[in-house]
Amino acid sequence: MCGIVGAVAQRDVKDILLEGLRRLEYRGYDSAGIAVVDKKGELNRIRKVGNVAELRDACQGQDLSGATGIAHTRWATHGGVTEQNAHPHVSEGKLVIVHNGIIENHAELRQLLESKGYTFTSDTDTEVMLHQIHEDLKQTGDLLKAVQTTVKKLHGAYGTVVYEVNNPERLIVARSGSPLVIGLGIGENFVASDQFSLQPVTNRFQYLEEGDIAELTREQVRVFDPTGKEVERDQFESDISHESDGKGEYRHHMLKEIHEQPTAIRNTLQDRILELTIVDSVFGEDASALLKKVEHVQIVACGTSYHSGLVARYWLEQYANVSCSVEIASEIRYRKSFVHKNALFVTISQSGETADTLAALRLAKSQGYMTSLAICNVPNSSLVRESDLCFMTKAGAEIGVASTKAFTTQLVGLLMLVAALGQSKGIAANVIKQITNALHSLPSKIEESLALSDEIEKLAEEFADKQHSLFLGRGEQYPIAMEGALKLKEISYIHAEAYAAGELKHGPLALIDADMPIIVVAPNNELLEKLKSNVEEVRARGGILYVFADKHAQFESDETMRVIDVPNTDDIIAPIVYTIPLQLLSYYVAIIKGTDVDQPRNLAKSVTVE
Ligand code: F6R
Repeated sequence: MCGIVGAVAQRDVKDILLEGLRRLEYRGYDSAGIAVVDKKGELNRIRKVGNVAELRDACQGQDLSGATGIAHTRWATHGGVTEQNAHPHVSEGKLVIVHNGIIENHAELRQLLESKGYTFTSDTDTEVMLHQIHEDLKQTGDLLKAVQTTVKKLHGAYGTVVYEVNNPERLIVARSGSPLVIGLGIGENFVASDQFSLQPVTNRFQYLEEGDIAELTREQVRVFDPTGKEVERDQFESDISHESDGKGEYRHHMLKEIHEQPTAIRNTLQDRILELTIVDSVFGEDASALLKKVEHVQIVACGTSYHSGLVARYWLEQYANVSCSVEIASEIRYRKSFVHKNALFVTISQSGETADTLAALRLAKSQGYMTSLAICNVPNSSLVRESDLCFMTKAGAEIGVASTKAFTTQLVGLLMLVAALGQSKGIAANVIKQITNALHSLPSKIEESLALSDEIEKLAEEFADKQHSLFLGRGEQYPIAMEGALKLKEISYIHAEAYAAGELKHGPLALIDADMPIIVVAPNNELLEKLKSNVEEVRARGGILYVFADKHAQFESDETMRVIDVPNTDDIIAPIVYTIPLQLLSYYVAIIKGTDVDQPRNLAKSVTVE
């Protein structure tokens, strides 16, 4: 989604802003822009439809010197993908703004502002917000007061940075529903949508809370809460190296991230499991007392993170004997749902900023859940800060839009939750032992699965001319089939659907023909015989099968069935191990299709609008 970078410094900020935008590219966008005020007080703005490299090229040879500036990558919501709609926007040559989020009452405000003589040069809700601030500046005489006044008139979500051309040494920053982090420097300060964007210039950060408005000058940062009272917000130092964003030897971030999974999982496990137990404090200091009381787990998430929740439901009910329900965040937040007694509300999110998941958490807090837990990959993200307990996955920065290592480390976190809940409920020690042993073996099993790369790359050629595909699984492999289908559709643009294999004969069998590849996830577990019957149903109707199976499952390749041997593993971790070949399949199919693997069309990494 849209990305913001702003700087107020003593040095030229153009390169800091452009590099900051480059580091935000992974979020997804369609146009980019920058506006800097030079020493003579002249505003220079350049906007481009396309990517940050094109913006950088357009900046070559232009005078963009200046110590204050803001820059933006836009993911269109209101108004098409055009240069006029790209940010920064300028009001009458005096005020400059960038904005993430959606102003829902933009139409009525626009009418009022037009009646007051403001001319609009774009179709965006952002320009409405900007002119409203301008109008309130005329009334209040001060930009901070103007922004404080304007936000009270807005319905919707915003992360925004605004400054005056004739007083460029002060940025005003406001946040509600769209994340912003302040980067603290020496004699310079910065603001951005995420800390990753600012890592080349600082490792000291301060997150704004919902409704905060901040004033940034070179020398200081002042933060005001929604009542206008000046407040202190925690500062922290990040220990993430800013070098960690390169693709290294890999052609795409996604491929690098697929191959990083053994390390990511080792990092996620490190110091958290002992031989036979899960370290109590991994979910937070008070976790063990709270977990003892849990009688139901409600999981809420979106997309890939939702799929990890679906796997966890099978695990929780089977191994920890705790009932569990899983729901998509955008659904649960808009219905009257039942809150179980002593229920744990679990959110799962790579970014920790997904608007629907965050809104569902906020709603849950008013609904009487016993406590909340976030399973998240981004420290200090909104979800982490607003949850009672948290489990940090240690996947490292995930840049490819298609989630890979974040997903498998979420599953590791969830399996540790299963063991921790099981432990607190006194389930048999051998089950805990099975989980901890399986987790210890997981990184090397993933390495073995990655060795299937060459075979899967060749196999991918058979998908090049396909329009549709079907993924099948049973039990906890059904959500893995769903995740495989999501990966394939999002990066190769091949239509992919997942079904619980037992559902085939209730409709989808009608789709089967030689043009529809059927991908089957077939570990050697207690459902294998049932799955084999489903495979035969497909074969009998001329379907072409690609079966990812344990070699002991005894599938044989022939002209209608390709069998890919997946390493034999303990049943508990099989969903994680079987995820890897499906990730590789979607990656190599996308390569053949020539799509933009790391930034697939129309998608954004961090979905901060609902
Ligand atoms: C798919 C993908 C998305 C995200 C979803 C939730 O590969 O990445 O489906 O899983 O947008 O995002 P987070 O996990 O950041 O809440």
